[in-house]
Amino acid sequence: MAEVIIMPKLGFNMSEGKLVKWYKAEGDEVKKGENLFSIETDKTNMDIEATNDGTVRKLLIDEGDQIPVTLPIAIVATKDEDITAALEQALKDLGKDNAAENTATSLNKAEAAPASSSNHSAGLKNTNDYEVLVIGGGPGGYVAAIKAAQMGKKTAIVEKAHFGGTCLNVGCIPTKALLRSAEALNEVKESATFGVTGVDIANAKLDLKRVQERKKQVITQLVGGVQGLLKGNGVTLINGEGNLIDKNTLEAAGKKYTADYIIIATGSDVKNLPITISPKRQVLTSKEMLELSETPKTMTIIGGGVIGIEFAYFLASIGTKVTVIEFLDRILPMVDEEITAQVAANLVKMGITIHTGAKVTEITDQSVRFEKAGEVQEVEAEKVLMAVGRAPRLDGIPCEALGIKTERGAIVTDECLKTSVSNIYAIGDVNGKAMLAHTASMEGIVAVENICGHKSAMDYGKIPSAIYVQPEIASVGLTEAEAKAKYGQVKVGKFPLLANGKAKVAGEERGLVKVILEPKYGEIVGVHMYCIHATDMISEAVVAMKLEGTAEEVANAIHPHPTVSEVMHEAMHAATGKAIHFL
Ligand code: NAI
Repeated sequence: MAEVIIMPKLGFNMSEGKLVKWYKAEGDEVKKGENLFSIETDKTNMDIEATNDGTVRKLLIDEGDQIPVTLPIAIVATKDEDITAALEQALKDLGKDNAAENTATSLNKAEAAPASSSNHSAGLKNTNDYEVLVIGGGPGGYVAAIKAAQMGKKTAIVEKAHFGGTCLNVGCIPTKALLRSAEALNEVKESATFGVTGVDIANAKLDLKRVQERKKQVITQLVGGVQGLLKGNGVTLINGEGNLIDKNTLEAAGKKYTADYIIIATGSDVKNLPITISPKRQVLTSKEMLELSETPKTMTIIGGGVIGIEFAYFLASIGTKVTVIEFLDRILPMVDEEITAQVAANLVKMGITIHTGAKVTEITDQSVRFEKAGEVQEVEAEKVLMAVGRAPRLDGIPCEALGIKTERGAIVTDECLKTSVSNIYAIGDVNGKAMLAHTASMEGIVAVENICGHKSAMDYGKIPSAIYVQPEIASVGLTEAEAKAKYGQVKVGKFPLLANGKAKVAGEERGLVKVILEPKYGEIVGVHMYCIHATDMISEAVVAMKLEGTAEEVANAIHPHPTVSEVMHEAMHAATGKAIHFL
């Protein structure tokens, strides 16, 4: 009688295994006790023997596939037995949905069925090479690929440069590594305040070559970690530039790959201004800034957004004379106004010159020209940094030809991250919704959950943001002005850092925390922090808002003392009545 061989469960905690090698091919005779295939789990490697004599009629799984336990992987039968019925019965016995559909798909007797919502459809042979193919290995793409593999999908990811993408290689992580060095320098300069003696404070400075080396080490370790995670989860890594040929086919490094579902996660590129730039002048972007090996004497930064301000802070810390030119009437226009005012004042104290309401018109050999209040002004600068935003990267994605809808250069997606082509999803910067690494990662998870048949959606109203200057800036939800525009009257609770014991101990008492509540239920709709450790502490507000919490509920949760996190507790008290430790 036909025998359907399933992935054995070799241990109590084993949920899947990798098929390392087939010892038999289709059509081979096999004797009971002969090795049929070998598998690998996180704990062991083992050869699995045939339990009956017969002919290997069908191999359902490829070498290298990661398979959940109990998934059928081969059929051994006599030469004329009906293996379709045997497989269908086996799938039914195993409680799989769509047994008939999966049977047909596995035996290649029907058109490739769409990937079913069952996790266990993974690994069954299909006419496509993969069930999920991800283009781009940044924090959107690699998280999506890992999640897809974890949910049982046969997954591949294609990357043209380095896994980890912009964030890990030329964005968040390297910038933060540089800023950490600036912070260490600032600590040395302020060490006398803490009673440290014997330090040559006057000569303390950064050796940018050493700073760059440390940054590279951090990146190398993290990139290696991402590749290890992908491989460890059974994702196939493809190196090369991916070009989408049709809705199921991608070409990379001279080979074609097909997939049931495609996830576009190609990120973004630096935007440039359409202005006259002297050919003698090399205008830097954030990418080149990360390679600086000498401290510039003067730097003009065009754009007072997140990148502009983080670099302004870094450069001013290492001794560069910085000028920021911002088009709007304030820097960091996305941050709560009250906080922006304090940040701007502290940056000015560091020696940074800020021009707001200023439109850059030309970059000459020596200077940057801009219009402000109807007058043309000019600032001389050894170096110029362009930081006026980023644009979605669509190289290799012929949107129009494939029918993928775009708007202002970004791929249009619904709340499930699906594009106008039903098997193609787009996550991260390429959809232009919120250009942040953690948004991309969450979008990757939401996209994969939808591909696997689970209904989940992004909540773009509760995405935290973090800006790395000292003190740090972090926020989630509506600013006070946005909340007032939406709800009319709102309740606001504030707490200044100078009233917090741990901040005083740390010697960093600048800043405040601000909590905004909607008027009807007192639900938290915005939290804004400008203080030491803000970027770590904002998560508490994100969780509270995700759970639709009120300020009263957070105020009733005991916060440890002495910690800076008490400022959140106090701001919640302030929003519902009165702060305990501030008059
Ligand atoms: P951004 O959009 O944050 O800021 C660009 C700024 O340039 C805006 O304030 C804009 O008003 C200004 N601008 C535009 N045209 C101008 C002109 N002609 N003259 C003067 N100013 C002009 O873009 P940024 O800073 O380049 O960052 C790019 C992306 O990377 C953003 O989406 C940002 O969220 C993300 N990012 C996030 C980080 C973080 O969360 N810590 C760090 C770095 C980047």
